[in-house]
Amino acid sequence: MTEYRWNQSELAAGYDAGAMLVHPCYVQVQDAILAEMGCAGAADGLVVDLGGGSGRLVERVLDRWPDTTALIIDQSQAFLDLAAMRLERFGDRIAFACKRLQDDWRDVVTQPAAAIVSMSAIHHLDPGEKQQCYQRCFDSLRPGGLLLNGDEVRADADDEYRGQVERWAEHMQRLIDTNAVTPAMADALRGWRKRNVEQFAEPRSSGDDCHETAATQLSYFEAAGLKNTGVAWQRELWSLLKGQRVS
Ligand SMILES: C[S@@+](CC[C@H](N)C(=O)[O-])C[C@H]1O[C@@H](n2cnc3c(N)ncnc32)[C@H](O)[C@@H]1O
Repeated sequence: MTEYRWNQSELAAGYDAGAMLVHPCYVQVQDAILAEMGCAGAADGLVVDLGGGSGRLVERVLDRWPDTTALIIDQSQAFLDLAAMRLERFGDRIAFACKRLQDDWRDVVTQPAAAIVSMSAIHHLDPGEKQQCYQRCFDSLRPGGLLLNGDEVRADADDEYRGQVERWAEHMQRLIDTNAVTPAMADALRGWRKRNVEQFAEPRSSGDDCHETAATQLSYFEAAGLKNTGVAWQRELWSLLKGQRVS
């Protein structure tokens, strides 16, 4: 079996170095997540980051709210090693769990979470896996807690979706052509283009980019028991989906 691409340490390092170049709205999605957490008072306890990678979002959370603790759940030890280095200064305010989001990760969430956040990770789950993951999010939140997923989200109309993936692929190509990303990252970007542009109409399976619309995913949120659901922010291929565990 081929190794899951996110587990290569060269790719983890390349993504960490290039995330803000590769993802045109990287900081904006983070800003939108932090703004939602601030408005809802969802930062005075445990914050869980699903697929939290090298810890860039959690770093901003822990810097902004000194009473917050955080847990990063990610299946890649290579990413978690980078996160551990980045977040060492926060001491016991940060914990890590090397787990797949497809598996039951609820046992590593040691207290009901004030917020569960995620960026650019949950779209790797197929529809059934997403539904299961969102149910586990509901189960792991405290009453009032927020689920915030800032992710690649498919537009309702196929031509709009196609335009969005093509524009992002062109952006990626410019980064490759100008050597703005590492060789491992350039390979990953070529793979993304192949899966999402050249094989646009082909079926996706778990681990691919299983883009689903906001409406579909918010229906999963609601089926899991989340309320106050909606799209908090949107641009091109990226949306911030939100929901709340009310009781
Ligand atoms: C594009 S990176 C995003 C990292 C981080 N959230 C960020 O925005 O900087 C995708 C991350 O999701 C993780 N990931 C992908 N599929 C996963 C899965 N099935 N279970 C857990 N983590 C997963 C990868 O290991 C990687 O750290």
